[in-house]
Amino acid sequence: MTPPETRTDLTTGLYLDLLKRTLTGAVAEDNDSILGGVRTAGSPLLRKNVADAVGRFVGRFGFEIAKKKPYDAKLREVGRDWPARADSMIGLKRMDNIQHCVSTVVEEGIPGDLIECGVWRGGATIFMRGVLKAYDDRTRKVWVSDSFQGLPPPDAARYPADLGDTLHKMGGLAVGVEQVKHNFERYGLLDDQVQFLVGWFKDTLATAPIEQLAVMRLDGDMYESTIQAIEPLYPKLSPGGFCIIDDFGSHASQAGKAIEDYRKAHGITEEIIDIDGFGAYWRKAA
Ligand SMILES: C[S@@+](CC[C@H](N)C(=O)[O-])C[C@H]1O[C@@H](n2cnc3c(N)ncnc32)[C@H](O)[C@@H]1O
Repeated sequence: MTPPETRTDLTTGLYLDLLKRTLTGAVAEDNDSILGGVRTAGSPLLRKNVADAVGRFVGRFGFEIAKKKPYDAKLREVGRDWPARADSMIGLKRMDNIQHCVSTVVEEGIPGDLIECGVWRGGATIFMRGVLKAYDDRTRKVWVSDSFQGLPPPDAARYPADLGDTLHKMGGLAVGVEQVKHNFERYGLLDDQVQFLVGWFKDTLATAPIEQLAVMRLDGDMYESTIQAIEPLYPKLSPGGFCIIDDFGSHASQAGKAIEDYRKAHGITEEIIDIDGFGAYWRKAA
């Protein structure tokens, strides 16, 4: 018979595996393109704009029009497509990375809370809370930080790397805080270990009542959103803690450049480890 501690390890692993597959839409093979949904709202393409208008119009009468798209497991593995309904767009490998970072800080007793800046529907932070639950960690908080109204228009005078950025027009990236709270509830993971920071990073992070962090995850895409998050938070990251940049490779000229500039300015030399060609992370030296 399997010893009890091994059974616990097994069920913990099974719970987290199912949670990742559900949050990314891999279980549901969620890949249809809903008119008026995340793939059309605010797109610069005329075709998608028309689809968006049609989708929003029929939505007023309680209807939905979706184009069937074949599910591509390889794309979802690395978060290269946006799921129509699932709660995270980061894909399975970046979820595995969150599990690795959170379980390491819990097992090694690295002090501090967890935060994601840029949560969209909340999936990555729901998973962080799930990992704490699976490890029966009742002390750390998960900070859920977002404008909950999408990205800011580019401030190219201050941040030239963001010149011409159009992500602020993408209505599908604006998900309200009540919706995100409800998403936590659907997984049975909304409680007082989950704290919401509502507003632009530049207005909320410097004064947030966060004492210490063990894992910080930045997913704000733009140079502005990345630099304004890392500046107030990195000094609070414990030695041995993890700094994860979702957009390091995918927005190399924006988020990636902000990270390179910050690391250079602060003499950070820890090796950057690639996750899936998009996401990357490093561990703060002990
Ligand atoms: C790519 S989505 C995040 C995806 C999410 N991590 C997931 O698991 O699917 C980017 C998010 O960053 C937020 N965001 C970007 N820049 C911001 C800023 N300067 N202040 C606050 N929120 C911002 C947007 O509202 C959006 O929800």
